[in-house]
Amino acid sequence: MKEFNTRQFRDTLSAFATGIAVVTARDKFGKPVAMTVNSFSPVSLTPPLVLWSVDCGSDFFEEFSQADYYAVHVLRQDQQDVSTHFSTEMEDRFADMDTDKGVSNLPLLPNYCARLQCKMEHRYEGGDHLILVGRVLDIDHKPADPLIFHAGKYRTLE
Ligand SMILES: Cc1cc2nc3c(=O)[nH]c(=O)nc-3n(C[C@H](O)[C@H](O)[C@H](O)COP(=O)(O)O)c2cc1C
Repeated sequence: MKEFNTRQFRDTLSAFATGIAVVTARDKFGKPVAMTVNSFSPVSLTPPLVLWSVDCGSDFFEEFSQADYYAVHVLRQDQQDVSTHFSTEMEDRFADMDTDKGVSNLPLLPNYCARLQCKMEHRYEGGDHLILVGRVLDIDHKPADPLIFHAGKYRTLE
């Protein structure tokens, strides 16, 4: 068997193109939290299940892993700035940000090409990440070209 290091593993995984999503939730005090992710994946049609995974070393690990609900916003190709915003460390990611209220008071972003509101159904350990499986309670879809992430870079459809 050939040995490989983390860098080589990351580079190999980066051949798999993904979309980009922003996941939102509320912490136990009701404060909104959000982060950019590309680990989102559909799981099951019946029942409707999706997953994403949170880094165990994330500053928001406790908030997301303990949340009972989360919302996934799949970003449009013109929302690279939104992806950068929600993956950059700052005091308050929701300052000057308009949000709507969703299921169980979930903070919802107004712009996306697809939005899924979920109730946490299962949590699975996955090495240095925790896999969060949610049951989809509500969906919204505004057809638009998606933002793509591939080989460590943002891409758009030709
Ligand atoms: C393209 C992209 C995809 C990301 N995907 C994930 C992910 O799936 N899970 C995760 O925990 N962090 C992911 N991150 C990192 C978080 O967005 C980022 O670490 C976090 O929001 C910054 O705060 P923290 O480091 O304090 O968690 C991703 C970042 C980028 C730019």
